[in-house]
Order: sequence, then C-alpha cells, then structure tokens
Amino acid sequence: MMNLTLKIWRQKNAQDKGKLVEYKVTEISEHMSFLEMMDVLNEQLVNKGEEPVAFDHDCREGICGMCSLQINGEAHGPDRLVTTCQLHMRMFKDGETIYIEPFRSKAFPVIKDLVVDRMAFERIQQAGGYISVNTSGNTQDANAIPISKHDADLSMDAASCIGCGACVASCKNSSAMLFVSAKVSQFALLPQGKVEAADRVLNMVKQMDDEGFGNCTNTGACEVECPKGISLDNIARMNREYLKASI
Ligand code: SF4
Ligand code: FES
Repeated sequence: MMNLTLKIWRQKNAQDKGKLVEYKVTEISEHMSFLEMMDVLNEQLVNKGEEPVAFDHDCREGICGMCSLQINGEAHGPDRLVTTCQLHMRMFKDGETIYIEPFRSKAFPVIKDLVVDRMAFERIQQAGGYISVNTSGNTQDANAIPISKHDADLSMDAASCIGCGACVASCKNSSAMLFVSAKVSQFALLPQGKVEAADRVLNMVKQMDDEGFGNCTNTGACEVECPKGISLDNIARMNREYLKASI
C-alpha cells in the first residue's frame, strides 16, 4: 500500500484563475488504476464534506479518450501507449508527490478542475471526418470492394485514434496535426474515402486552424505521448493530401 501527496489543479470554472491544491491519499494499492486512485481521493473528500475533484472519464478501458490528465507533466502519465484509465499506480513510488493538471491548450478551455472542453475536436470531425453513404437499404457490402492488406492495416492504425487530445497537450505549439491527420488518413487510404478526400482534408484543416490550434514543427512529442501509437507518417500523408487537394 502507498501513501501519496497529490498536487491537483483546482479551478471553479473557465473564468476562475485556478491553482494547485495539495492533498494526501493513503492506502493506495499498486494494482489500482490512476482513476481508481482519484476515486479514493474523492471519497475521502466527500466524507470530509469537501468538494470532490472533477475529472473526465467514461469507458475506463482505453477506448473513449475522455480521461485526459497531465500527470507529472506528461499527457496520460509516465507509462507508454496507455490512457490515464489504463495507467497503474505501480508506476509510482510510496511517498511520491504527483502533479495532476488538465490538458493545457487555448483550444481546450477548462470547464472545471481537470475537465476541459474538447468540442474543438468534434467540430473538426464534423467538418469532414466521415464518408457519405446511402443507407437506404441498398448499401453495398464492404467486402465487395477489394482493399490491399497493407492499406487496410494502415487505415486501421489511423482509425485507432481515440480523440483524447494528448497530442495537443504534449505539443509546444498546441498543434492538433496528429489527431487531424489520423482522421484524414483512415479514409484517404480506403477507396470509400477517396470520393470526398479533397473536400475532407481542406475542410478539416480549415476548421483546425479556425479553432486556434498551432502549426506542426516536427518535434514529435505528440507521437511519443499518443496512447494509441499514432505515427507521424499520418501527418506527412495529410500534407500530401492537402497539397493534392489544393492544386
Ligand atoms: S492522435 Fe493519439 S494523442 Fe492525438 S487524439 Fe488521437 S489518440 Fe489521442
Ligand atoms: S476513460 Fe475512456 S479512454 Fe480512459
């Protein structure tokens, strides 16, 4: 069992300045997930009549991308290829001080404490992250269109992006290029996605810029911190798609 000191960002709302507040948690098992540790803290706070810490979560199995926390300065904490909900307390030591902050980006305003508004990602998706399919009952079976294993695998890899925003939070420019390029690539690699490919990339990149995300300067922090291992190759593919669509 571990005893920990937590320095947690508390912020009442978007207007509040916010500050780090220190808490002690006791009897944390190394087998707990990071969010289970946060549950223990909140239970202790509620029992003392204090306001629990607001944090985002849903699936708690690495699928939804909601559990976006900056832990000791790293998006999703010190482990690799895991989300915060999959991060285990065995990654920390008894007596350690852990800093817990929201994902920081102008395009992700804080709603409360550790919860940020990631609707900017939704609006980018709405700008083109889909294919138009006639679902009137005459939909063609997907298996009727042959796709090379190579392209299918690359598309599947891109589609594993869960929209968590760790790439933005890790980037010194707050760039959303890794996220957007994954969403562009998953369709650009498939015949079904080629029909609307030009409009898709132009509209999604425009929305990305309108939301205030920064430019990519090829630092690569996004790829390192991405819990799904989304490759920088997707950014190169998106740039090629953008150039093709522009001329
Ligand atoms: S590219 Fe990776 S870090 Fe960025 S939103 Fe997708 S899964 Fe999260
Ligand atoms: S809670 Fe869904 S990915 Fe962590």
